[in-house]
Amino acid sequence: MKGIILAGGAGSRLYPLTLVASKQLQPVYDKPMVYYPLTVLIASGIQEICLISTPHDLPRFRQLLGDGSAWGIAIEYREQAKPEGIAQAFLIAESFIAGQPVALILGDNIFFGGDAFPRAVAAFRGGAAVFAYHVHDPQRYGVVEFDAAGRAISLEEKPAQPKSNYAVPGVYLYDENVVAYTKAQQPSPRGELEITDLNKEYLRRGQLAVHRLSRGFAWLDAGTSTSLHEASAYVQTIEKRQGIKIGCPEEAALHRNFLSLERFEALLARLPNCEYRDYLQSVAVEFRRTVRSSETP
Ligand code: TTP
Repeated sequence: MKGIILAGGAGSRLYPLTLVASKQLQPVYDKPMVYYPLTVLIASGIQEICLISTPHDLPRFRQLLGDGSAWGIAIEYREQAKPEGIAQAFLIAESFIAGQPVALILGDNIFFGGDAFPRAVAAFRGGAAVFAYHVHDPQRYGVVEFDAAGRAISLEEKPAQPKSNYAVPGVYLYDENVVAYTKAQQPSPRGELEITDLNKEYLRRGQLAVHRLSRGFAWLDAGTSTSLHEASAYVQTIEKRQGIKIGCPEEAALHRNFLSLERFEALLARLPNCEYRDYLQSVAVEFRRTVRSSETP
């Protein structure tokens, strides 16, 4: 499966921070925001990635992430001239998708806990798959309604009267039909190609799987100054308590075997002396220990 990170948009709710850098380049505790969705894709075994952003911000992403080869992945870049909807990503990235299944992740969504995404990617056999997460303010999101048997029966974008508390987070998996279905779509009254309309098309065809994310799972959105600060505080709390990092692409690439331990160590030797490098060093030590112990007869 291929992967798309959608990292454009206006970021108007983060003004004046977005005068300095786009939303997805802002720090979330100790890393740029885009590291988090990127790590989700890598941890899900996705090696070919396309990042979409505005013509203004794309050069900064290129500078930050390069062609991905340092991490054993391939990253391509495409421009979205105007924020005309999340589903527009499939038209912009048509040549990248090239008839393959694709995962789309929003560049400002932060996830932590469990292996729901890697499992869904591994189990994906066609149609579309989205996730459902219990929130207190569903009217801000796409909302999914379930019947008594737990089957998804309706989807609505930002409903004034939500039929459930289950919002659809910004990770979506699609089969090769996604480009054709998007081409057949009409923009919504707000002038956007809506991801919810695309999901409704798969639902109408009986081809939409909705996986409920468990209570222990965290989905944070970092679109306002308050939620950005809360996301940073959350990441700091978990990292300090557990001695692990959330959103570390190098670590995910090592665990997915996109990078050998030798390449990983060569990469970290090039980093400046900092906490991030100390962490990667500890990951290498632990990795070597686990591999050794699994080789012991
Ligand atoms: P939003 O948070 O809905 O929009 P925004 O980022 O433009 O922010 P604001 O409302 O503060 O102006 O977008 C969700 C994510 O999707 C975000 O990462 C930006 C991205 N996005 C695009 O890249 N292109 C688009 O056309 C749209 C609608 C969103």
